[in-house]
Amino acid sequence: MPDALRDDVYRRPLATALDRLGVGPGWRCVDVGAGGGDVSVALAAVVGHTGRVYSVDSDPLARDEVAAAAAEHSQVLAITQAAEDLVLPEPVDLAFCRFLLLHVIDPALVLARMAGAVRPGGWVVAQEPITTAGRVGGLALSMPDARHPDIGALLPALARDAGLELVDAWAEAPAGVGPGPVTAYLAASTGVDPGEDPVVLPPLVTVLGRVRAA
Ligand SMILES: C[S@@+](CC[C@H](N)C(=O)[O-])C[C@H]1O[C@@H](n2cnc3c(N)ncnc32)[C@H](O)[C@@H]1O
Repeated sequence: MPDALRDDVYRRPLATALDRLGVGPGWRCVDVGAGGGDVSVALAAVVGHTGRVYSVDSDPLARDEVAAAAAEHSQVLAITQAAEDLVLPEPVDLAFCRFLLLHVIDPALVLARMAGAVRPGGWVVAQEPITTAGRVGGLALSMPDARHPDIGALLPALARDAGLELVDAWAEAPAGVGPGPVTAYLAASTGVDPGEDPVVLPPLVTVLGRVRAA
């Protein structure tokens, strides 16, 4: 596991999840709603050149961003595709999404498509926020642009309803005060400078779901 993951705000929950799964060399993965490729690159570092990471996003611009971010990782294949239409060249061991389901029209459909891309006994992992549980100076944050800003609070039930075996679920919330990565993240992502106010970023709920063996 790259140590840098542990220090950088929302990369820590990613490191926790990958550790618990035991992701290792040779795994085939898909990162759905990959954006700039942060998760894809982290997965690529763990699965190595014997593994494969499909980096899927509906925005064609994400392909270029992922190509640049993953330039050193030839095992990353960027694909422009909607999560609702997810089709891959092979079954994967792990389907992962982070900060995706809060934006899609039908999160249950997307989870079902992710489960359908995974081999029997493989994994679906989702990491989604409860945005209104974030705090700046004790006051609630909100994210009105998202379709489902508090989808994290529903995630365990969504995974169960997608037919997955819910193996584990938890929430993690980066917190801090004054200059540092948490304050910098808030300022960069919202334009809000919290000054010396304490910040609790929105908790990220992680679910580890297993696709039942046939
Ligand atoms: C907030 S970004 C998250 C990026 C990345 N997963 C991360 O955690 O850093 C959400 C991404 O999901 C993509 N997205 C939104 N709706 C999608 C859909 N229906 N199918 C595939 N990608 C989608 C967006 O284009 C965007 O790149």
